[in-house]
Amino acid sequence: MSLVAEGLIEKIDSRTARISVVGLGYVGLNVSLSLASEGFEVHGYDIDGSRIDKLLQGINYVQEEDHLSGILPLMLNTKFFPSTDVDNASEVGDIIIVIVPTAEGDIPTLDYLEMALDSITQNDIRGKLIILESTVQVGTSDEFVKPILERGGLKAGTDFFLAYSPERIDPGNTSMRLRNIPKVVGGVNQVSAEIAAKLYEAIVNSVVMVSSMKTAEFVKLMENAQRDVNIALVNLFAIMGEKAGIDIEEALFAASTKWNFHKYHPTCGVGGHCLKKDPVLLAKSFENTGIDLTLIESSRRINDYMPILTAEKAISICREHIKRDPSSVSFGILGLSYKKNSSDSRNSPALFIIERLKERGASDIRCYDPHVNLTIKQNTLKEVLDSNIVIQTVAHDSFKGLLDNYQGYVIDGTNTLDPSEKVIGIGRFPLRGAVGDNILEDHAREEKTAGMASSRE
Ligand SMILES: NC(=O)c1ccc[n+]([C@@H]2O[C@H](COP(=O)([O-])OP(=O)(O)OC[C@H]3O[C@@H](n4cnc5c(N)ncnc54)[C@H](O)[C@@H]3O)[C@@H](O)[C@H]2O)c1
Repeated sequence: MSLVAEGLIEKIDSRTARISVVGLGYVGLNVSLSLASEGFEVHGYDIDGSRIDKLLQGINYVQEEDHLSGILPLMLNTKFFPSTDVDNASEVGDIIIVIVPTAEGDIPTLDYLEMALDSITQNDIRGKLIILESTVQVGTSDEFVKPILERGGLKAGTDFFLAYSPERIDPGNTSMRLRNIPKVVGGVNQVSAEIAAKLYEAIVNSVVMVSSMKTAEFVKLMENAQRDVNIALVNLFAIMGEKAGIDIEEALFAASTKWNFHKYHPTCGVGGHCLKKDPVLLAKSFENTGIDLTLIESSRRINDYMPILTAEKAISICREHIKRDPSSVSFGILGLSYKKNSSDSRNSPALFIIERLKERGASDIRCYDPHVNLTIKQNTLKEVLDSNIVIQTVAHDSFKGLLDNYQGYVIDGTNTLDPSEKVIGIGRFPLRGAVGDNILEDHAREEKTAGMASSRE
């Protein structure tokens, strides 16, 4: 190992390494404050001035990571220094971590990454370690990031160090926080990976080193593509069940009594910044290779269809039961975030449901989500509960029991309510016969206690 590399490791060990984090969103703020809490001097950069203003006032804007609200004021101006001056990041930091968005909506883009790299190359990066954490297409670190950083004539791996380490945090998940999620690290060469691993060992319990940056990129995309395909499969089962008059939750309960059946639940859609774009990134990584990618592509199509299916259920209630045109029916959307107890509404199924309802002529659409602060107009809970049809899109804890006395029709996009003539779930039918509701309820309770993975979360 070169003297420069040893020097950097020594600085990490003694906590004298200065770290710049470029991009202070859901991931970047978390990583910054974890490093600061471990004694590093962290300089956080973001182009969004309003975010920096909030941080300078000690305000945490990542609502679902509320533990950060206590840490931020403690670290601010002692170990954590937020700024908009991104061009300074590589001047100040010995290690620069880049965690900027890699999609606009659900369309992948490298524009933010390119902008961040342009800022980093404003200064001499000799002897520094640059780590990319954003989720990217396989090959991006080698073929896009490295050439930009080498533009000034320095060579990655010798003149400066370069690593890729995908982020796996799940904002709002209190049982899986940054520290107990193993961190995968790949470097442009062994020494780069070792320095990056050394840094992460300070903030996570387990580091998993892989042999290349592209392996680490592939790992992240595999993880999310696997989840997307699994969810699509259960959504497809639900659609099949609807055609055949089979209650999907009853069938899932029975199937999951087999030891190797992995249970997911159908819902009104998949949202968020990652799950919609990561399988696309994986497929794009292998386009023109002759590999048949239809499994990934059709899973995306099925999951994108779920909000449409949900909206269409409401439309058919208008025509078949209320016997009115959608234009004269009121719709209440209960939940705007894409997952439970979260304020994150990026690519939320609710937004696609609203769009579809409007396309089908609905004009009285009311929305309520106490977690979400969106630019679209929100209504009061009472106004939503006064609607002819309520569509529940997410099972926030605060929504429990809200619909117990509701008299209108409910479309349950979460499959957490008991189905009835007026409560229509995804692939659900009121149960009769052998499997009683109580068995399903007991099973749901057991699942919750065991913390089983579910596509509802
Ligand atoms: N949110 C998650 O749960 C999650 C989980 C794992 C991985 N990721 C990945 O991490 C990356 C970041 O995601 P996020 O959710 O933190 O995004 P985010 O939108 O919450 O935050 C990104 C931040 O980067 C800032 N930014 C954009 N361009 C910049 C630039 N040139 N210089 C400085 N700041 C810049 C934005 O203003 C924003 O504040 C993405 O690639 C995402 O796929 C996210």
